[in-house]
Amino acid sequence: MSEYRTGQGWDTHRLEAGRALVLGGVRIPSDFGLAGHSDADVLAHAITDALLGAAALGDIGMHFPDTDPRWKDADSLVFLRHALALVREAGYEVVHVDSTVILERPKLKDFRQAIREKLAETLGLEVSSVSVKFKTAERLGPVGEGRSAEAQAVATIRKR
Ligand code: C5P
Ligand code: MG
Repeated sequence: MSEYRTGQGWDTHRLEAGRALVLGGVRIPSDFGLAGHSDADVLAHAITDALLGAAALGDIGMHFPDTDPRWKDADSLVFLRHALALVREAGYEVVHVDSTVILERPKLKDFRQAIREKLAETLGLEVSSVSVKFKTAERLGPVGEGRSAEAQAVATIRKR
């Protein structure tokens, strides 16, 4: 009998002028981006934590400390691939990922398909099994004031 488990992930990063805006491994044209030790891909980080959470394998900072020079400006898809490998080693396969990016601007909907495709390719999933949603924060709080971005994710895994 197959055993399903779910994991949840959340992340936030500050916005900074002149930094690249990378979401789900896709570079979004913007005059500001996300600040962080790695490429600060807030969506990839939330999904990485959702995968780790589903298999109860700790969190992203445990596997990739932000004090480690190896992860300076790192492509966060490396973290996602590593989490996927750990989930597989634990005897599970990923079934589905749902996610939300909360960012006031720029508009992201034109990049939805590219982000889904990149994440699906990285996770070995069909595009139909990768959901990416976008929300503003209605000008409220740090996200709404354009000072930060957040991402949330839920991952479903199944015992192999
Ligand atoms: O936050 P709100 O409900 O106003 O978002 C309306 C729509 O705008 C969402 O359905 C989403 O697809 C899109 N959106 C976007 N880029 C953002 C925020 C929202 O494309 N940064
Ligand atoms: Mg992060």
